[in-house]
Amino acid sequence: MSPALRSVVVGVGAYLPEEVVSNDDLAKVVDTSDAWIFERTGIRQRHRAAPEQATSDLAVAAAHRALATAGRSPADIDLIIVATTTSDLTFPATAAIVQRKLGVGVCPCFDVQAVCSGFVYALSVADGFVARGLARCALVIGAEIMTRLMDWTDRGTCVLFGDGAGAVVLEPQAGAGGPDDRGILGVSLSCDGEKQDLLYVDGGPTTTGTIGHLRMQGREVFRHAVVNISDAVLKAAEAAQIGVQDIDWFIPHQANQRILDGVARRLGLPPEKVICTVSQHANTSAASIPLALAAGVEDGRIRQGDLLMLEAMGGGLTWGAVALRF
Ligand code: UT7
Repeated sequence: MSPALRSVVVGVGAYLPEEVVSNDDLAKVVDTSDAWIFERTGIRQRHRAAPEQATSDLAVAAAHRALATAGRSPADIDLIIVATTTSDLTFPATAAIVQRKLGVGVCPCFDVQAVCSGFVYALSVADGFVARGLARCALVIGAEIMTRLMDWTDRGTCVLFGDGAGAVVLEPQAGAGGPDDRGILGVSLSCDGEKQDLLYVDGGPTTTGTIGHLRMQGREVFRHAVVNISDAVLKAAEAAQIGVQDIDWFIPHQANQRILDGVARRLGLPPEKVICTVSQHANTSAASIPLALAAGVEDGRIRQGDLLMLEAMGGGLTWGAVALRF
């Protein structure tokens, strides 16, 4: 094995808006119940951004916390990537707005749009900079205000999503080139645009001229999720030269507890190795993986040196996984 520059996570932070919306709260808005939502999805509550908050505000709050845990300041940052489906404006990129609000100097800043898979896509893109020595301190953020995309008359979707942001700081460190290195070890990314009708937003600047609402054929998406995610995990593990049994913590996109359980079962991963936040956060799209990662780090489960597998699937359809040693 030849030596390698690895992209190592040196800081993790999260932010959840103050307002908590319970399933019972939603039962006052649409014909649903806590029992139905919890039984089908594992969701108990979600956070909702205040009307004056934009996605960049959530992203900045998470970034401050990630920088603090890394012992870094905005002056150190030389790359910002924001994974989001709910940008503040059509342009500039939310990453550019985050740069201004954080007071980061001139550097590359752009958004990655891969919906719920956005954070694994963004990590992979950032790895392309950091592991080539093109960035020395990268901020990778997943931030979403999904509640602004909901059709509040559609009970099949509006109960599933929430708002939040999570961020990591990535820095280069020399590794031996093998699976014992800290940092990103293996990646698998996919998209099948033929299946875009299963999960999409029915608006946009060059079609309707509106923001649109999220539309989903839930059962069909569910059917693809377990197979696609399991496949991505196996490919990322192979790229990282690890076996699934080596994984210390599985950090899935938090869409539905039944999908999490199904993937874990298919891969032979014990449930106690799966970080689950879906009951508290619901589906926060690109923010859900860094939010779950932050939860596992903050409560002391995830420690330096642990082998993590991050995975997601979302609109596109996109899916992917990243194996990394924390
Ligand atoms: O992050 C991207 C990925 N997204 C996902 O991974 C979502 C994947 N899909 C799912 O999680 C599930 O398909 C859902 C949770 C969205 C739905 O669960 P399901 O078991 O597939 O239910 P269904 O859509 O087949 O609907 C079953 C019944 C229907 O009633 P009828 O036609 O059988 O009378 C729905 O109208 O449940 C009804 N229903 C509801 N009832 C109460 C749908 N939504 C609700 C609701 N409350 N909120």
